[in-house]
Amino acid sequence: MLINSELFDRLRRFPDVEAPNLLAVDAADRLILDEADAALVAADDGSVVVIDDHFGALTLGTAARHDAFGLRVHQDSIVAERALAANADREGMLDRFTSGELSEELLTGAQVVLLQLPRSLSALTEIAEAVARYATPEVAVFAGGRDKHITIAMNDVLGRSFGEVQASRGRQKSRVLRARTPIPGTPTYPVTETLTDLDLTVVAHGAVFAGPRLDIGTRYLLDFLRQTPRNIGVAVDLGCGTGILAAELARIRPSARIIATDQSASAVASAAATAAANGLADRIETLRDDVASSLPDASVDVVVCNPPFHIGAAVHTGIAEKMFESAARILRDGGELWTVHNSNLGYHRHLQGLVGRTTVAGRNRKFTVTRSVRTR
Ligand SMILES: C[S@@+](CC[C@H](N)C(=O)[O-])C[C@H]1O[C@@H](n2cnc3c(N)ncnc32)[C@H](O)[C@@H]1O
Repeated sequence: MLINSELFDRLRRFPDVEAPNLLAVDAADRLILDEADAALVAADDGSVVVIDDHFGALTLGTAARHDAFGLRVHQDSIVAERALAANADREGMLDRFTSGELSEELLTGAQVVLLQLPRSLSALTEIAEAVARYATPEVAVFAGGRDKHITIAMNDVLGRSFGEVQASRGRQKSRVLRARTPIPGTPTYPVTETLTDLDLTVVAHGAVFAGPRLDIGTRYLLDFLRQTPRNIGVAVDLGCGTGILAAELARIRPSARIIATDQSASAVASAAATAAANGLADRIETLRDDVASSLPDASVDVVVCNPPFHIGAAVHTGIAEKMFESAARILRDGGELWTVHNSNLGYHRHLQGLVGRTTVAGRNRKFTVTRSVRTR
């Protein structure tokens, strides 16, 4: 529809990484809005919920096309949340929606739920169970994505929480799964597991990286934490996931204050729960933020970081570079960034240029751990 194509041409990804091959609106956004059109026309004001909108196309597209107010939005990523807010601000549409957690408050009274399918089945499970539990019995869910990311297992996940699940016809390599007739059940997430070799209890919500398991890159970086300075005042686990690095650092550096930060609501909730499960709640603060942007300059002694090397499905070093820039900003002079990365990514040059003197602390067949000392 014209109203949306003009709007969509103006939407930006900012503050997420922007690049010519990375777009703010995809064919799945358009298909979800088209598939849900009749349901959105029929929905009462304040009964539409949008989950995991990438950059605002679903929320602002609904607001524009249906002159809708009172949309309720949950985005796991704070970067996505800020992108929606920035786009809404430019379009004069900040009054059309409110943002909140994946909760009873978000979903009570929901008649229509629009969802950009998350990448993991565990994230989808947590969302589907929440919708089935709290939305109205008449709720219609339109969950869309690019064909290459949609699996049969997603139908099965939705089928455990809804009596009817149907796939739409494909369009522009995208598809929508329509779900109706919710089956409320006991929530699966968060899950808790004990990593016996670390004697650490890990708590994971659905969307968190690696779930309750230990990533092999993280495993390797853990081996080096004892080489961090003994007298740490403040340390940051940048992109903390379930907070395993934060918890280990808190244990081996008992006088340090640790900040575990991530852009994902699921990660921050998991890291807080992991800290509590290991008796470290008073030692570890959590912060949902885009690359720790709210921490003051030169305020931190040590940053530990296992950065992502994907944006969505694409291999892209943009977020890692953003994290290294942020580490450089928040580290005090002489402070240290410890990071792990796939050896073939060759981050050494970036680290040396952005942070300071960088040495390889260890390398195995897959990963390299580096120590960069901040010099201003
Ligand atoms: C490779 S995972 C590492 C997670 C955890 N530290 C571990 O070792 O298990 C990278 C983490 O970075 C987070 N992340 C991605 N983009 C981010 C951003 N812009 N700001 C903060 N965290 C971000 C992801 O949500 C993810 O939890």
